[in-house]
Amino acid sequence: MPRAARTLYVCQNCGATAARWAGKCAACNEWNSLIEEESATGPPGSGLAAAKKGRVLELESLAATNAPSMRRFSSGSAELDRVTGGGIVPGSALLIGGEPGIGKSTLLLEVAARLAGRGRRALYFSGEEAAAQVRLRAERLGVAQAPLALACDSNLANILATLKAGPPPDLVIVDSIQTLWIDGLEAAPGTVAQVRAAAQALVRFAKASGSALVLVGHVTKDGQIAGPKLVEHMVDTVLYFEGDRGHPYRILRATKNRFGATDEIGVFEMAGEGLREVANASELFLPERQASAPGSAVFAGIEGTRPLLVEMQALVVPSGLGTPRRAVVGWDSNRLSMLLAVLDARAGVSFATQDVYLNVAGGLKISEPAADVAAAAALLSSIRQAALPADRVFLGEIALSGAVRAVRHTQLRLKEASKLGFKAAVLPAAAEPGAEREPLQRLGLAHVRDLFDVLPPPARLQRGRNPEEV
Ligand code: TYD
Ligand code: MG
Repeated sequence: MPRAARTLYVCQNCGATAARWAGKCAACNEWNSLIEEESATGPPGSGLAAAKKGRVLELESLAATNAPSMRRFSSGSAELDRVTGGGIVPGSALLIGGEPGIGKSTLLLEVAARLAGRGRRALYFSGEEAAAQVRLRAERLGVAQAPLALACDSNLANILATLKAGPPPDLVIVDSIQTLWIDGLEAAPGTVAQVRAAAQALVRFAKASGSALVLVGHVTKDGQIAGPKLVEHMVDTVLYFEGDRGHPYRILRATKNRFGATDEIGVFEMAGEGLREVANASELFLPERQASAPGSAVFAGIEGTRPLLVEMQALVVPSGLGTPRRAVVGWDSNRLSMLLAVLDARAGVSFATQDVYLNVAGGLKISEPAADVAAAAALLSSIRQAALPADRVFLGEIALSGAVRAVRHTQLRLKEASKLGFKAAVLPAAAEPGAEREPLQRLGLAHVRDLFDVLPPPARLQRGRNPEEV
């Protein structure tokens, strides 16, 4: 007869359960992440035999016309509305993750206070800060007078009782899910069991009451929202607040959204008086550019539906090491290795004896393959010690064959570049032609070799460089 397991070992990294303790989680290979937790319900499946006979559900038609339409409301922040796909959906649950100090509490306090100021019922539960601290921050943000209801407690039972006491709020913010604890559970706050149970109870409340719920989640050192992935499955929308602590820019990115696209970003700037929304992001990422320096190329990118111009910087220097260094910030390092191989094999430029550094200015992370041409131009400009013309933008994907492939939204990118004063674009020859007057001069590339036609000639060669390679 199988023994009824009452104790489970739960991985604090991925949420997997095991019947026995082990040094390494079998699911995610994390070391020392298994912690003994009391299982309230027993292992899955054990309760099946005891389950009552189910009742017959009433089936609805997908095409129901009398269903109430989903009515979003604006969060009062255009950037947050953009990322969520047009505003906050009543009854939905949103999880917002990010490194400590990135600005999650600042953003949510501002949003909640602004909504409260416009007559919506907003509740803010802080398990991390005392009321005085929150009030101090509200003063800095200039929203101290807003009729926002605030409570500093981390006991889930108290929070739920408070929520159920008044009329259902429009917006509930819980900062953060890792601080909550439930009386009956024998686990520390922040453990998988606590986080899972607390999130479940709060999401259930949101669905039943029609209140929109926003949970703040901490992230682990490798950038995942701490606790089980399960919380990400429970909520409707997952947003990550990212940015580089050394830069004032903050980017809000959706990784999951049941009510909209996930490729939109919101851009903010952390200032002395809180987060400022940045409607024109390109202006934020370009101004410090040193156009006369070799190795700088402007990439005409797209984030979601929004064009974004960013500078890609490359530095190529002779290497003193047997295995030359490759370091990338803001771009995929595999993509750089691929690009270097393509430049070597298809364009005859070898980086084998060079250290290569590539950086996306402003702390932005680019994931578009369309940045290939800009990165290649920056690399070639650096190895040839010749600056690119300052009035050019670059875009296009480079295939392993060396062919330059068309990318989407060419017109949108060119319009943005023209708005910011650029005169010409180096782009795939196969790029879709514009319907109206062209905003920029087009310099088309069919193959990565064609880049040489649009680059300035190499400057005087430096000692230690191989003349054939440039
Ligand atoms: P916070 O919202 O507390 O971060 P999180 O909740 O994600 O941990 O942000 C704190 C940081 O923001 C802190 O390092 C200081 C900075 N900040 C400003 O620069 N200006 C401001 O007006 C505020 C409130 C914070
Ligand atoms: Mg905080």
